[in-house]
Amino acid sequence: MSLTVVILAAGRGKRMRSSRAKVLHPVAGRPMLAHVLDLARRLDPVRICVVVGHGGDAVREALAADDVVWVEQREQLGTGHAVLQSLPQVREDDGRVLVLYGDVPLLPEAPVRELVAAGNALLTARLPDPAGYGRICRDAAGAFTGVVEERDATDAQRALDEINTGVLAIDAALLRHYLPAVGNDNAQGEYYLPDVLPLAMADGHRVHTVCTEDPGAVLGINDRLQLASAEREFQRRSAEALLRGGVTLADPARLDVRGSLQCGEDVFIDVGVVIEGAVTLGDGARVGAHCVLRDATVGEGSEVHPFSHLDGATVGAGCSVGPYARLRPGTVLANRARVGNFVETKKATIGTGSKVNHLSYVGDATLGAGVNVGAGTITCNYDGVAKHHTTLGDGVFIGSNSTLVAPLDVDEGGFVAAGSTVTRDVGRDQLAVGRGRQRNIDGWRRPGTAADEKGGH
Ligand code: UD1
Ligand code: MG
Repeated sequence: MSLTVVILAAGRGKRMRSSRAKVLHPVAGRPMLAHVLDLARRLDPVRICVVVGHGGDAVREALAADDVVWVEQREQLGTGHAVLQSLPQVREDDGRVLVLYGDVPLLPEAPVRELVAAGNALLTARLPDPAGYGRICRDAAGAFTGVVEERDATDAQRALDEINTGVLAIDAALLRHYLPAVGNDNAQGEYYLPDVLPLAMADGHRVHTVCTEDPGAVLGINDRLQLASAEREFQRRSAEALLRGGVTLADPARLDVRGSLQCGEDVFIDVGVVIEGAVTLGDGARVGAHCVLRDATVGEGSEVHPFSHLDGATVGAGCSVGPYARLRPGTVLANRARVGNFVETKKATIGTGSKVNHLSYVGDATLGAGVNVGAGTITCNYDGVAKHHTTLGDGVFIGSNSTLVAPLDVDEGGFVAAGSTVTRDVGRDQLAVGRGRQRNIDGWRRPGTAADEKGGH
């Protein structure tokens, strides 16, 4: 049976107290609606409709995709009214319609599939604290009779702990027939989507409920407190998956993955690490405390020491990075390269076994194998107009505190004396000394030191 997914995302999210549309607030670094769209796509529907209203243009722009039909709900008159706006997109012979909420981002695939297979059905959950949710009402025999919103509920109904997750599957034909008949005679004066179910049941149509065993997955986000809970829940699940996959985490509660993390065998991740974008850690790689890795690859057996920041960097095997290193986009470390503390690199290739160990800036540069860059060395890659390249051949030695003014080539085996400002290319096996010659002046007296005070202090 074919499936149409309707995602409701028009609400203002008043309780977020934000100028941004609620569904654009991120969970794990991505708008919560993006997570719901992912789920919808995995179900292989014939169509995905997203109902937008408040901040609709920003939502459309942020999540633009060819496979999404955007439906506008001008006034937010309730979840039933929102689905009503999408009905022109739902055909009688469409099979089933699945409604998801843009503010329920953690929902896994399995219970949703189960729900769609069950027929006309509502996904419910039992929550220790059901406050704020619609409650599931049942008759004496335990059969589902409808959903009552908290604001319309009696005290006895509020005491019920089974709640409406908002996820609902219904035959397209029934939805088209009964939804227009749903009224708004309730505390909020809104058209409630779940009210379509009792109307269909009154005509003898069967409605099932599927109660999920995993209440953390159905968390609806209405305020920033729930947003924070959803974020923690997401991170807890992602850390658990990593642990199960054989990764050692110093503390699963102190790792944040806001993207995808691929790990080899025996990877170790210390506390306070943030992963963004696509990150790959090779076999035996170690990431020290409080590192931020974004769109980065760390090769087999390499170690990233604490407080390092990698962004768009590729680190080979057996490398050592940090502590306090900053590898910016376009950094490539060949095997066994070492980049130490307070070193910044950008668009730089550091060759096999080469070392940039202390307090340096290496930008727009290509370093061969076995290069040693002394402490405090700077590639002057920018002249105020354009960027220029520095090339250091295999085995080059750059003395400490050198200023390499690009464009510059230092050929294989070249040697730059400490403290040099190098503006001309250095040939193979040459020594470059680019600094004033030292003079030692005899009998020097400190300024303000009178002759009669000689020997004083
Ligand atoms: C809704 C359900 C409640 C359920 C809860 C689960 C109804 C009437 N209530 O309550 O039973 O327990 O979700 O999280 O369905 N939306 C629109 N247009 C509107 C109103 C809402 O698109 O006019 C969208 C919102 O953007 C949101 C979703 O529908 O994504 C749910 O709306 P919300 O206002 O959060 O409903 P709840 O009060 O949470
Ligand atoms: Mg909600």
